[in-house]
Amino acid sequence: MPQNKKILELQKKKEGILQGGGEQAIAKQVAMGKMTARERILTLLDEDSFHEYDLFVEHDARDFGMDTKVLAGDGVIIGTGNIYGSPVAIFAQDFTVAGGSLGLMHARKITKIMDYALTMRIPLIGINDSGGARIQEGVNSLAGYGEIFFRNTIASGVIPQISVILGPCAGGAVYSPALTDFVFVVENISKMFITGPEVIKTVLGEDISMEELGGARVHSEISGNAHFFSTSETECFDQIKKLITFIPWNNKRKALRFEPKLPKPEYRINEIVPENPANPYDVRNVIRALVDDSDFFEVMELFAQNIVIGFGRLNGDTIGFVANQPLYLAGVLDCDSSDKAARFVRFCDAFNIPIVTLEDLPGYLPGADQEHAGVIRHGAKLLYAFSEATVPKINVILRKAYGGGYIAMNSRHLRADFVFAWPGAEIAVMGPEGAANIIFRKEIMEAADPDKMRQQKIKEYKDKFSNPYVAAAKGYIDSVIEPEETRRFLLHAIEVSINKVVNRPDKKHGIPPF
Ligand code: HXC
Repeated sequence: MPQNKKILELQKKKEGILQGGGEQAIAKQVAMGKMTARERILTLLDEDSFHEYDLFVEHDARDFGMDTKVLAGDGVIIGTGNIYGSPVAIFAQDFTVAGGSLGLMHARKITKIMDYALTMRIPLIGINDSGGARIQEGVNSLAGYGEIFFRNTIASGVIPQISVILGPCAGGAVYSPALTDFVFVVENISKMFITGPEVIKTVLGEDISMEELGGARVHSEISGNAHFFSTSETECFDQIKKLITFIPWNNKRKALRFEPKLPKPEYRINEIVPENPANPYDVRNVIRALVDDSDFFEVMELFAQNIVIGFGRLNGDTIGFVANQPLYLAGVLDCDSSDKAARFVRFCDAFNIPIVTLEDLPGYLPGADQEHAGVIRHGAKLLYAFSEATVPKINVILRKAYGGGYIAMNSRHLRADFVFAWPGAEIAVMGPEGAANIIFRKEIMEAADPDKMRQQKIKEYKDKFSNPYVAAAKGYIDSVIEPEETRRFLLHAIEVSINKVVNRPDKKHGIPPF
């Protein structure tokens, strides 16, 4: 056969497979407001950068009518490409082909691209849109999931792993996303659950819709399973692209450096934090006042809003920010916010991203609910994460740093490299009101005017401890700085930390609180 005929044959074969599950299935997908798997990949990646592999893979299942079924690409597309020029490995399940269900060859395609990603040390992006284990293939499908989970675990902390939920993701299939670093969801499109509404109805007699059970909002606001929420697939892809610009290709590299920029002048750092410690403010504006171009990319924006986490740049370099948020619950630490911050700190540490904390918190949230929910072990995760992290760690105490919160939030004692405090900082075991009520209880009770005595004792305590100078006198903080000086101090701290070396005892691995 002359060469051009062979080329035509190849083109014809490809054309057939590129139709996916066919016109009808594609029309159903589009009617649900979803792109096809191929459109998703092409929208996300740089133009003309996608290179596909295993297009001609076929399943070899024989039971339950599978012997006559042709499934294009076995329901999943894999390949490599670029995002803003950086290489990534990607797979996208194709719901138009047997509901994107995962059979043996489908799983082999996914594990092949996972192996490439790990061997080549490039980020992995998985687009999930699937009815789960392919029922006709029985244990082979389960084996496929097991192989994926194993690889997710081995790749953890070596390459960034991103999961995008763009359709159903049910049963044990949800564990792959849960093992990855960032999960993206889209309103009305993403559904994640271990057991669906029908099983819940049968077992518990409860009625619940898919959206209420495992929709995008639920996982972004309540369960904490999702890190990025959007209202359309296009918005979701823009978020992924932006994330890729902030993170490195692997754990041996640093994130790409960008052109340094100044923060925007409208964020006036002197005017954001109110003098009265009882007044709230949005700590994100402090971050915006510090970072290049005031560009702060928040992670888990809708979950545990009493702590803010995300990425920004200082002089072009990616920094991970962790900040107490006085706008919500006065910025206290609790189970969810400790989990949220601890995992982020571990991500930054694994991927060479320096951590800057902005501290303003009155301590841990009191109450039986929190105690019974395990605030001890959840809170301990944050202590563990900061202690364990060896990337450059810088803490800026903006206002309150009370009690356990003072220690937990990247304190000198957990080996912060630099601790700065603003002049309005209050560093103490607890707030002046609580402290005065405890240590001067007797004097207050016995006084002719207990209220007057209480106010007097509160003032005494405030005068003594509600400032940064007692901690500065002990060297627990390095400098008391003016808000305007903060960016300068941070830039310098990052610069001098460039060759930071930390030696820790050898061990197989630690055992973080769960
Ligand atoms: C084989 C499947 C399938 C599956 C869907 N399909 N799920 N084929 N195995 N798991 C096929 C359907 O038969 C149909 O084929 C096509 O995909 C489209 O499915 P529809 O049902 O028409 O789509 P829709 O109405 O949108 O409903 C989507 C759905 C539903 C909610 C996901 O398909 C569904 O409930 N599927 C089963 C989900 C499930 O129980 N999976 C197993 C989970 S347990 P045709 O040929 O008609 O177009 C699991 C274990 C993993 O995954 C364990 C890991 C440790």
